[in-house]
Amino acid sequence: MDFCNFRLPLLILAVLGCCSEGGLFLNDKMKGVIGKNVTFKTTITSAQDFQFVIWNFNKADIITSIITSVPSSNTNNINEKYTSRIVYSKATCELQLGPLVKEDEGRYILTAVTNKRKPLSGQIVLEVLEPITDVKISSNLPEPVEFNSTVVLSCSAKGSFTYQWLNGSVPLVVDGTHMKLNAVGNELTIAEVRRTELRGPIICIAKNPLESGTSAPFNLTVSYGPEKVIMTQTPTDSFLQKGSNLTLACSAQSDPPAQLQWMFNGTEMPQKTTQSPANITLTNVEEKHSGNYSCVAYNAKTNRYVSSQVAVVSVLGTWPKFPMQNFTDFCLG
Ligand SMILES: *[C@@H]1O[C@H](CO)[C@@H](O)[C@H](O)[C@H]1NC(C)=O
Ligand SMILES: *[C@@H]1O[C@H](CO)[C@@H](O)[C@H](O)[C@H]1NC(C)=O
Ligand SMILES: *[C@@H]1O[C@H](CO)[C@@H](O)[C@H](O)[C@H]1NC(C)=O
Ligand SMILES: *[C@@H]1O[C@H](CO)[C@@H](O)[C@H](O)[C@H]1NC(C)=O
Ligand SMILES: *[C@@H]1O[C@H](CO)[C@@H](O)[C@H](O)[C@H]1NC(C)=O
Ligand SMILES: *[C@@H]1O[C@H](CO)[C@@H](O)[C@H](O)[C@H]1NC(C)=O
Repeated sequence: MDFCNFRLPLLILAVLGCCSEGGLFLNDKMKGVIGKNVTFKTTITSAQDFQFVIWNFNKADIITSIITSVPSSNTNNINEKYTSRIVYSKATCELQLGPLVKEDEGRYILTAVTNKRKPLSGQIVLEVLEPITDVKISSNLPEPVEFNSTVVLSCSAKGSFTYQWLNGSVPLVVDGTHMKLNAVGNELTIAEVRRTELRGPIICIAKNPLESGTSAPFNLTVSYGPEKVIMTQTPTDSFLQKGSNLTLACSAQSDPPAQLQWMFNGTEMPQKTTQSPANITLTNVEEKHSGNYSCVAYNAKTNRYVSSQVAVVSVLGTWPKFPMQNFTDFCLG
């Protein structure tokens, strides 16, 4: 590749003075992404009107010739550095450049000299963006607790972008108090998190005008409860005849499932389970079974204990026969 071929157009440019007329481009600013191609489109419809067409690259006032074309003789001189990186359209003088590297950022100048020696020129400023990769969501807490925890989700990514959050398929809406986004938009803070809030799944999208990257769907279990700790008694009577059976059932809502501990007169019974509802049956009850029954639900993740209501049970030695009014006498006596 001979040096003179590149030297000449630069000299011609110098003599003509730069840019007597513009309007050779459709855009004057463009963005490209590292590794991708860009095409500098022109408004030229027939290069045959030109003696010369010259593409130069100006980076920090260092001008490099990319291609010089003489349409009439159908000759193109391409700078060695660009031979494998450009596609030049002889018809429209459009230039495709790529795969882009960061160093391609700068000004691209197209100068054409008409057959009547009239210089035309235009320029376009290319910004080269980093590709978006590794879009990820992470949480400050692995095991948040409902109402206690402030969860901070951070979205990280590599490249040039702005952020956007989705809850499932819909844009995530923040109210600025309970839920907030930082100025950059990559940190979502949820105070006193609720059980369903992180089921989303939550998705972070990093995007720039040319491309976007999406995180893996993110969800997190928020521990809650126990709540609605309810005990039922069968039969429902407070007074039981000796020898009868008593069944108590206890249920609670909790995530993870609560441990259900049976209590008798304020002390723990041997029975406990994480199966809800939990049942105990006392068969063939005696007087010693009289007392207060309850169940206590405990969630180890939320560290909360919640007690059911208390069933006060009295076992009677003899069950009065007819007439029924004796029953009242019995109870009072
Ligand atoms: C990008 O440009 C290179 C070199 O000019 C070419 O080989 C490649 O096919 C182009 N890729 C696309 C997607 O146009
Ligand atoms: C996501 O959507 C679900 C269902 O509409 C809702 O319950 C939850 O609170 C939302 N989460 C956030 C963080 O907005
Ligand atoms: C997250 O969602 C997936 C699929 O919907 C589900 O299988 C998984 O159990 C969820 N994980 C949590 C922690 O909620
Ligand atoms: C109590 O339960 C036992 C065993 O399940 C049963 O054999 C007995 O008949 C029951 N007694 C009453 C009074 O229902
Ligand atoms: C059972 O509870 C009642 C109040 O509901 C209380 O007065 C009584 O002393 C309790 N009995 C026992 C044995 O703890
Ligand atoms: C949640 O908050 C309550 C009351 O503020 C506290 O007693 C409990 O220990 C907290 N739970 C956890 C898991 O930090």
